Amino acid sequence: MWKRMVTPILAVCLCCSLFVGPAFAADTESSKGVGISFEQTADNVFFDFQVDTATYDRVYYNTSVRDGETLVKVVFHSEENPSDQKFVRLHLAQAILPADTSASTTEEGAKLTFSKATPGQRWTNVVNFASDEALQGTIPVNVAGNMVDITASEFEDLSNAIAKSLDRIEGVQYTSADVDLIAQQFGDAFDKSTPYCVAPSFCVCKLPFVFDGTKCVSGDLWKNFQSKVVSQSAVQVQVEEGKPLRTLGDQELLELEDETFNVIFDTYQKRAAKQQMWPYMLYAQSLKRSNVLVVGGGMTQFEPLVMVNSGVNVTVVDSNLNNLKLLNRIADSSQINKNLLHLVYVPNLEGLDELKTEYDVILALDSLTKAPTELLEDVYFVLLSKLRLGGRWIQLAPSKSRYMSEGSPSYKDFAQIYNRHLGVPEETVWYEWLDIPKLMKILAPTKSRFQIIFDGELGSNPVQFPDNFQLIDLLYLGRTQ
Ligand SMILES: *[C@@H]1O[C@H](CO)[C@@H](O)[C@H](O)[C@H]1NC(C)=O
Ligand SMILES: *[C@@H]1O[C@H](CO)[C@@H](O)[C@H](O)[C@H]1NC(C)=O
Repeated sequence: MWKRMVTPILAVCLCCSLFVGPAFAADTESSKGVGISFEQTADNVFFDFQVDTATYDRVYYNTSVRDGETLVKVVFHSEENPSDQKFVRLHLAQAILPADTSASTTEEGAKLTFSKATPGQRWTNVVNFASDEALQGTIPVNVAGNMVDITASEFEDLSNAIAKSLDRIEGVQYTSADVDLIAQQFGDAFDKSTPYCVAPSFCVCKLPFVFDGTKCVSGDLWKNFQSKVVSQSAVQVQVEEGKPLRTLGDQELLELEDETFNVIFDTYQKRAAKQQMWPYMLYAQSLKRSNVLVVGGGMTQFEPLVMVNSGVNVTVVDSNLNNLKLLNRIADSSQINKNLLHLVYVPNLEGLDELKTEYDVILALDSLTKAPTELLEDVYFVLLSKLRLGGRWIQLAPSKSRYMSEGSPSYKDFAQIYNRHLGVPEETVWYEWLDIPKLMKILAPTKSRFQIIFDGELGSNPVQFPDNFQLIDLLYLGRTQ
């Protein structure tokens, strides 16, 4: 239905409460950014918006409630220079009563006042997410036999914008019912492409859209299972003395002679041991005699092999056969007890579901972080079904604080930053942080209960990007009901 989408976006129409205030002028010119500060009292929440770029003579705002969140949209409009409009969309926790809102202009911008849903409650994170990119879209519509492209933005008074576009086209007759119908189409399209932000920085989109860290985008890239569970084997090595480091991918590593391969793996392992992302030795010892299911067999995470050496019964699943071949090769060339190492190729979700053992531990080392959360729910569901009651769910993922310290980029940009630091080729196109609240939302459909054994950021101190990771270690207490 969407033809040229300028930005794949989002949601509801902005039928504004409008006030005309004294103009707030500023003398510097820069194109972006609205400062937002937030205060609260026992009964109210206040947002102070500062715009310091041009003269705005009107502020529009609209509030609406959706599933689990309150949306607030604010537009600063300049009659003289309409293209210099500023937009802010705030996704708030349902901490406020949107119907009870008032606004006033201030010297620098505007102030919005909301009543708290629960007076007396103090909110540390009222804003789950904020965006200054308004959704826009073009819809081809059929008006009395004429095909017409109509463009609108999420903050516009849609009926008005549609009527104006239609008026510009010669010979098109339309009724108010036509306008309403088109407005409805825009409303639906915007709604489908506006994220739902259910916890601070954690937003999801309605399929087929996925949240990319900043907005809703198409999830088509992750149609197949191979793109959902990704574990890397690429390692950076000094192939020749004096020459710059080179990155070898799984295929190149497989093609190496045994001797070269062993030297490379050994060097890699020594370097990795100095930059420990998590205390795998400790885990290897404490999980002795356990049945551990490792999700993703990329050689970069060689820790499962250390576990085998300590007497852990390890099953590694991967949809990339090369990863398993590499692990097998390392096992052959080292003193690894192959009776305790089970390499299972799983080309799809059904393959994963066919595993027979009830595992004591599910171990996902940074392998469920390279596809959008929205698309991984079924993978998580199947994995959890393989865990015995009282078993452990252990996961390593980029931490939220690490993600925030990079300036909360899109997950695509985050992947590029990470790839650059690691020197790996642009293999990953997505890299997403994880914390317990987010994990609990993903696992919510399973109605499971857990006890937190450990949850924290591990790695070098002082931080050496990119070796800091969130380690989540949970005890599975079964399902409610
Ligand atoms: C704000 O937007 C919602 C959703 O489109 C709409 O139903 C509501 O009427 C708008 N509120 C105001 C005050 O215009
Ligand atoms: C080790 O794991 C394999 C694969 O999951 C399983 O078939 C086998 O029974 C396990 N061995 C023990 C001793 O539990």
